[in-house]
Amino acid sequence: SLLVENVQQLASKALKEIPHRYIRPEIRTDEVSVNESSQIPVIDMSKLGTGNVGYQTEMSKLHQACKEWGFFQLTNHGAATEIENMKAATQEFFMLPLEEKMVYAQQPDNLEGYGQAFVMSEDQKLDWSDMFFIYCLPESSRNLKFWPTNPASFRSSLEEYSRELHKVCSSLCELMATNLGVDEFSGMYKELIQSIRLNYYPPCSQPDKVIGLSPHSDINLLTLLVQSDEVEGLQIRKNGKWIPIKPIPEAIVVNVGDTMEIMSNGLYESIEHRAVVNSHKARLSLAAFHGPSGEANIGPLPDLVKENGAKFKTVNYEEFLKIYLGRTLDGKSMLDYVR
Ligand code: SIN
Ligand code: FE2
Repeated sequence: SLLVENVQQLASKALKEIPHRYIRPEIRTDEVSVNESSQIPVIDMSKLGTGNVGYQTEMSKLHQACKEWGFFQLTNHGAATEIENMKAATQEFFMLPLEEKMVYAQQPDNLEGYGQAFVMSEDQKLDWSDMFFIYCLPESSRNLKFWPTNPASFRSSLEEYSRELHKVCSSLCELMATNLGVDEFSGMYKELIQSIRLNYYPPCSQPDKVIGLSPHSDINLLTLLVQSDEVEGLQIRKNGKWIPIKPIPEAIVVNVGDTMEIMSNGLYESIEHRAVVNSHKARLSLAAFHGPSGEANIGPLPDLVKENGAKFKTVNYEEFLKIYLGRTLDGKSMLDYVR
């Protein structure tokens, strides 16, 4: 990935003209759905313990959500405190002066640290956001020079956040395996690799001309996303329209990634999504990606190919990831490589 200008800094200059590399004529605001009823399902995790009141109903809701939406909001997940602390630490980090954030700047051709992702050429269009990417689990993957000591609470907040979200993700994988009638996830979720991407979207005076995060689907198994309470930005593509996801305070937005679509043999869907920006307010989002380790070969689970055969080829995850990270985000699905 190439290193490019800091967007927060650029936005603070209040330029009359937005630099041309950020102008995205392909963004058509009329494709956004204003239909209030088309919101992603909300799943109450407190009902998902076996024997709990409403267990069966909530389990079917979860199954439907993964099949029809590939996205849902999760409430009562037990990680509210860790989320609040991590949101505060993230906010404080992005508010630091540029030179203090640059202590953790990305190195060329390395994703980890403070900077941008998916920039491959000098003339490529750019997203209106900065990000901070960090490997979290297993602990042996941590590169502590990228773990900020400023603000002082950052490391402990990240550590606790990482642990709690991994727990939630493991539980979800178990529940999804039950819903799919398979047990093969059980080998994988214990070793789920976790990385975290913190996104900062500065306000933009002409929000309809830029994009915060280009359309894409996630390559991993499951993504757990936490976002600013008041500022909308996430949109998902359904039936040819972009549907804005309304933030629910304390909820986690969960989405199925390409790997889950492959393993479920296409039963669960990995949905294209993007982030748009606001004219006045900055927006934060915290994405925790969970996926297999590099050595894993991912393919449809044997139990799920009996009836209709395998819809996808089996692929080595590290190779798959390498192709993903070497591209620009243009909404094209990685699943085309394995069909
Ligand atoms: C993402 O797709 O990783 C984040 C989108 C968002 O900021 O809501
Ligand atoms: Fe994403």
